[in-house]
Amino acid sequence: MAALIDKHGRPITDLRIAITDHCNYKCVYCRTGNDGAMYADLPFSDYLRMARLFAGLGIKKIRITGGEPLLRRGVVEFVRELSKLHTVDGEPLDLAITTNGHLLAEMAQPLKDAGLRRITVSMDAVDPDRFRRITRVPNGFACVLAGIRAAKRAALAPVKVNCVLMRGFNEDQIIPFGRFAREEGVVLRFIEFMPLEEDRVWSPNIVVTLDEILRRMAEYRPLVEIPHDRSETARRYRFDDGIGEIGIIAPVSHPFCSHCSRLRITSDGKIRTCLFSVWDHDLHELMRRGASDEELVAFIYSVVDRKEARHHIGEPDFVPPSRTMVHIGG
Ligand code: 5AD
Repeated sequence: MAALIDKHGRPITDLRIAITDHCNYKCVYCRTGNDGAMYADLPFSDYLRMARLFAGLGIKKIRITGGEPLLRRGVVEFVRELSKLHTVDGEPLDLAITTNGHLLAEMAQPLKDAGLRRITVSMDAVDPDRFRRITRVPNGFACVLAGIRAAKRAALAPVKVNCVLMRGFNEDQIIPFGRFAREEGVVLRFIEFMPLEEDRVWSPNIVVTLDEILRRMAEYRPLVEIPHDRSETARRYRFDDGIGEIGIIAPVSHPFCSHCSRLRITSDGKIRTCLFSVWDHDLHELMRRGASDEELVAFIYSVVDRKEARHHIGEPDFVPPSRTMVHIGG
């Protein structure tokens, strides 16, 4: 079967599947302080069928997301099933999870044993009080730190830590995070705040940009850029003594849309071609109506054809996406 290449010449090799849009955190850059509406999630067998079809179309990497994916019972078994799939080249899939880490301490080893390769933990402060202010849950910090350490012990290497920076919340954490990356041996990823949150508080002034992060971090220790793959979202740096890796994902100040290789499936089985799409494409509805694999594949090709060229963050014609992050999946 022909590999997935969109109208802009971009090969699609990276699939993210959200398995729930329920989350036990209420991070300020994502959610309101209240419990919001939720979409349905699907039986794992449905996600598995989708994953198998996509693997046959050239997908190399699958990332399980949410909501918070570790809240979903059966996730370890799901990883085990996914790990049996192969790419078109006969290689195992590169399997990863993005999690808030709250339940990771107990689940890291079982996930590893089930075939998970890598893990990314969201952690937006290395100070418990700051952490609480951002996540709006008590006592999360200790759980997440224990989760990160358990993932390291389980050799889910390298453990990546995502930090979304917001002015007024955690921009003072840049240097402490630099120290944390060195001491804990984790790969850090600062992410520029994008307008994907439920509270609609985004403004360009709140975004802590790549340039600013680099400037601040250089006050701590000089950074040296590491050459990176063009399809990689992060620009990568190492400290001058070779210890500690810092990446910066800068979709706002340095968009990487022209190298985007991603598609997302929401927990209710819709394909999203861009985080900022104003529509989604209902793959699950077709499945529910009994479509054959051939029909589903034809639909997937037609959806890929409609992948947006780029996002329009910060431009006058920006239209907020039809879903917020918790209902899409990072
Ligand atoms: N802007 C940038 N990153 C976000 N994330 C969630 N919401 C936003 C946002 N509005 C991050 C999460 C997670 C990753 C998948 O996306 O912290 O680490």
